[in-house]
Amino acid sequence: RVAYVNGTYQPHGEASIHVEDRGFQFADGVYEVWSVFNGRMADFDGHMTRLHRSLNELRIDIPMSVESLTRVLKETIRRNRVKNGIVYLQVTRGTARRDHPFPSPDTPPSVIVTSRSVSTTRSEAQAAKGVAVVTQPDIRWGRCDIKTVGLLANVLAKQAARERGAYEAWMVDEMGLVTEGSSTNAWIVDKHGRLRTRDTQANILKGITRTAIMDLIASENIELDERPFSVDDAKEAREAFFTAAGAFVMPTISIDGVKIGDGKPGPITTKLRTLYLDRAK
Ligand code: PDD
Repeated sequence: RVAYVNGTYQPHGEASIHVEDRGFQFADGVYEVWSVFNGRMADFDGHMTRLHRSLNELRIDIPMSVESLTRVLKETIRRNRVKNGIVYLQVTRGTARRDHPFPSPDTPPSVIVTSRSVSTTRSEAQAAKGVAVVTQPDIRWGRCDIKTVGLLANVLAKQAARERGAYEAWMVDEMGLVTEGSSTNAWIVDKHGRLRTRDTQANILKGITRTAIMDLIASENIELDERPFSVDDAKEAREAFFTAAGAFVMPTISIDGVKIGDGKPGPITTKLRTLYLDRAK
């Protein structure tokens, strides 16, 4: 396996970044994850556009042209022989002596790309059965719309979920409303049969998979209520699921141990997963 690091492809086991990199010291960087399907990146433009938005919001220089970056992403996938899996890109504000203010403007951003295969049999088995979710307080900062590598609160939430035997953590604000998953967007089909997901004016990441699902919903004439829902709404829901690159559409069959619907992936969830995967193929 290889990783791309600042202009060269290095053996994955040795690929490294300087100790004074601002990504390491301050989480001063952004990232993107694309699903790779049959060797191709899913929702390519959406992720690329969001990357530029994240960089712009943090005033990190754009490290290279979209064309060059695309070439690096494709080459990393190719060299790692990934047919189905993910490709990960991280850009930080670069390497400079540790000091909180931005380094001098001539400091080049650091860019790394990795790619690995993901077992489709395993994820298909999880999707067929559905997974458990637990709720956790959302203790993150006020700019969760930016895809930064500052993910400590997300890591702690996910770990808490795993320690309780769940796959994902849904984070909950002070009003008892679900914000999003630790690395996914949260959706339900509520007790009235309405498909719901939180709007992105609030403090959450505007998921690219979420947007893709919204486009599919519109073309299928399924109605969407883009509004926050509470933990209680979720526990009473007919169906629940979450979306992200890699997870696609993942059915949720329990929340905090409360069975959702009949404890199996619901019909709308299953339909959306199929539609999404067919479109990506
Ligand atoms: N996570 N919300 C959060 C907090 C996320 O980290 C992610 C993605 C999403 C879904 O976004 P998208 O559909 O664009 O993947 C929502 C990636 C996969 C990760 O951190 O690995």
